[in-house]
Amino acid sequence: MIRRLVLWISLVAPLCVAACSEQLLNPMADHRQPRERAYRPSDFYADGLAMRAPPAGTVPHERRTMAPILTTGIASYTGQIAPNGERIARYASKIPMPVTPELLSVGRKRYDITCGTCHGPLGDGNSIVARQMSLRPPPSLHLYASRAPGYIFQVINHGFGLMASYAAELSVEERWAVVAYVRALQVSQNVPVGALPPDARRQLEQEKP
Ligand code: HEC
Repeated sequence: MIRRLVLWISLVAPLCVAACSEQLLNPMADHRQPRERAYRPSDFYADGLAMRAPPAGTVPHERRTMAPILTTGIASYTGQIAPNGERIARYASKIPMPVTPELLSVGRKRYDITCGTCHGPLGDGNSIVARQMSLRPPPSLHLYASRAPGYIFQVINHGFGLMASYAAELSVEERWAVVAYVRALQVSQNVPVGALPPDARRQLEQEKP
């Protein structure tokens, strides 16, 4: 029985190693494939265009909004091209939906589940994950207080450097809700006492030692 198993392993293992080594040695191999860029010409398709028309009768996933600023966080393009060949964007300077207490509470919930694990419940980069990360740890989000809301939205959409995209976990509304909550966290750590509403100010003054 054991002999048979050994024989089986010795026959099958080399095949598997040959097939899997590319994957094992380079887990990103699948991502480094030839690709086309949007709006560029292409030799691959007969019509010479890289972009394809959606199949007849299909509806784009985010069609409902009909507002690219909502789904991309980008208000417009500057017309300039970055060194990496991508167009330089102007990000939405305001959250393009009403910021209500309900939106903030959705944002808080989704932030705590999706982002706080890494960026810390206060957004200051203080988390167990951050302490354990040997490469670039998740930064404090308070460093991004001057970045446009559309930029934070875009980071959630596409990820950034080592950080993955969270578009699959969060709907478009939830992504903006998270952006709103990140803004609230940023304000919460830097607000002058004079800017607090009277009851919050009174409470703070009572807590003073
Ligand atoms: C698994 C850990 C992890 C999670 C979860 C995570 N991030 Fe990050 N985030 C990172 C790391 C690591 C970086 C730094 C990446 C780099 O510089 O390569 C980063 C960077 C960022 C940046 C800075 C981008 C820049 O321009 O430097 C923002 C903003 C950000 N994250 C927001 C979020 C938001 C919002 C969420 C939740 C939707 C989130 N992150 C979830 C790990 C995480």
